[in-house]
Amino acid sequence: MATIRFKGYGETKASPGTTILEAARELGAPEGSDCGGCCSCSTCHVYVLSGSELLSKRDDDELDILELADDVRDGQSRLGCQAQVQKGDGIIEVEISKESFETFLSDNPSLRAKFTANAQKT
Ligand code: FES
Repeated sequence: MATIRFKGYGETKASPGTTILEAARELGAPEGSDCGGCCSCSTCHVYVLSGSELLSKRDDDELDILELADDVRDGQSRLGCQAQVQKGDGIIEVEISKESFETFLSDNPSLRAKFTANAQKT
């Protein structure tokens, strides 16, 4: 099992085949996902700060959609719905992009106060 650590939101264990988005949902971390994980919206955009070698590689479809994302960082930007754990026994550190965080808040207005307060602490 890999450990996926979401900056500011804690960590969760993830077995091979689990996506970063699925792990975020399991943990309750505020990652957006407007298309539901169909690789067509970029709202699940995250930065993989370390442990990228434990994840699946980006394919052409993911790269095409990442071109739609805000503030893309070379070597770190991933779509959470496409980045899948491939190997266990390691730590993957992830930062949820501002775009993804704002999408989550728009889709979950009742959680805005909770996550806005959390974000201010980190
Ligand atoms: S949830 Fe839409 S591209 Fe990942």
